[in-house]
Amino acid sequence: MFPCTINTFINTLCIFIAVTFANGQDRQLVSKLNPGCEHCDATLIYTRAQGSHDTIHQIWDFTHHVPSVVYVIGPVNSNVTITWHDSYPDQFLFTDKFDGNKTYSFAAAVESIIEYNDLKDNGQFEPGMPKENVQRWPLDNTKWRRSDMVLTDKEAVVTMMGEDSTRSGVIEMKLDILPFQDYALDLPHLIHTANSTLVDVQLVNFTESPGFNASRFALRLVLASSDNSSTTWTKDMRKSLDDEHTPGVFEIIEMRSARARDGAFVQFRPVAYTQRERGVSSSTNAYITGFNRSSLPRHSVLPRLYRNYFEGNASLVVQDAVVSFGLAGDGYYKQHNFTAWSFTIGYGAPPLEGFSLFVMIIISIGLGVPTLLALAGVTYMLARRCRQRNPPARFTNDE
Ligand SMILES: *[C@@H]1O[C@H](CO)[C@@H](O)[C@H](O)[C@H]1NC(C)=O
Ligand SMILES: *[C@@H]1O[C@H](CO)[C@@H](O)[C@H](O)[C@H]1NC(C)=O
Ligand SMILES: *[C@@H]1O[C@H](CO)[C@@H](O)[C@H](O)[C@H]1NC(C)=O
Ligand SMILES: *[C@@H]1O[C@H](CO)[C@@H](O)[C@H](O)[C@H]1NC(C)=O
Ligand SMILES: *[C@@H]1O[C@H](CO)[C@@H](O)[C@H](O)[C@H]1NC(C)=O
Repeated sequence: MFPCTINTFINTLCIFIAVTFANGQDRQLVSKLNPGCEHCDATLIYTRAQGSHDTIHQIWDFTHHVPSVVYVIGPVNSNVTITWHDSYPDQFLFTDKFDGNKTYSFAAAVESIIEYNDLKDNGQFEPGMPKENVQRWPLDNTKWRRSDMVLTDKEAVVTMMGEDSTRSGVIEMKLDILPFQDYALDLPHLIHTANSTLVDVQLVNFTESPGFNASRFALRLVLASSDNSSTTWTKDMRKSLDDEHTPGVFEIIEMRSARARDGAFVQFRPVAYTQRERGVSSSTNAYITGFNRSSLPRHSVLPRLYRNYFEGNASLVVQDAVVSFGLAGDGYYKQHNFTAWSFTIGYGAPPLEGFSLFVMIIISIGLGVPTLLALAGVTYMLARRCRQRNPPARFTNDE
């Protein structure tokens, strides 16, 4: 019967999709918490993602105050060993150190939170704002606590809560990697691939500084890559074809390191959320400034790690940019005391949105129905003409 056929079809489709996914891992994932220091009361997650041509080593470091994500790409059999001193990583021993051709590295760090008094109420942080309207909150004293962690060969995800006794508020960071391509569960449903990591940042319960009455909170991101220090990262805005995955948002912002092929990218949508329940009604704008040259944050793992990686042959470009959030008339940060924003950081070409099956069906119907109607029309016309040229004999006989 018809419904049965549909059921069978759907079942087959599900099985097909499941099998495709099970075998469809683009990289083999192995993740470890504090490798080399199993009893350390710290959080450093090391993920080895082995592909057919190379291996991506990833370090998510929360042992220092400034959190960072580090990528090191090496040959298939390359390894990284970490030695520890107390609860701090001491040495990063790479089997394949920096070599302009065979290896590549890049990193991102959330270096500080910037509070700005948005007296003009336009939402956006502007680099030229008067000093008295800007308060920098470096993460130099932030202490990190793990609130959730899953490390399997299908996914590595950790959620961290950062607090600082010298100020109010909690910064929550969630990092997530999958061995295959998928859309993130949470809005704005960014695409992650086996070559990229999803980073979600939430600023919760920050309080306005004395003297400010229109505070918003921005993030200063530091990006580094093992390119010549005279080069620069670039930033582009791209329009996506549809807003199916991120309702109302058609733009995608991409930042890329100087290496043209197989370089680093950071990808995000210019949207943030002001409530835990993410949706169109809780969305607000995200903005990013231009890049400035910067240096590796002192209170992060990066200076130590890159000393080991480069062994003196330093070749690093370091830049920073400020990401801010808000819309005119939204009541500022204090309206909800909450901001959430996501980006992905990864290796190679930034992923492109594809059309989903649903959209394909809609498009097929959209194009198919008029085509069918046109065909039917043409057929009808032709048939009529034929009939007029060769009128049926019956009529002729009637006359
Ligand atoms: C970049 O550097 C310029 C010049 O030092 C400065 O005026 C500007 O505020 C900086 N931009 C950011 C985003 O910090
Ligand atoms: C990941 O990177 C490898 C090269 O290292 C490339 O062959 C592959 O296509 C990339 N995968 C995705 C999903 O971008
Ligand atoms: C933020 O404040 C609200 C209300 O005071 C409280 O319920 C919530 O637990 C706080 N969130 C965090 C992460 O501290
Ligand atoms: C946000 O926090 C401030 C204190 O910093 C509080 O006065 C205000 O009521 C809070 N707003 C909401 C929506 O919880
Ligand atoms: C904030 O304070 C300034 C004066 O310092 C005032 O001009 C402005 O109207 C105030 N804004 C709000 C939203 O209260």
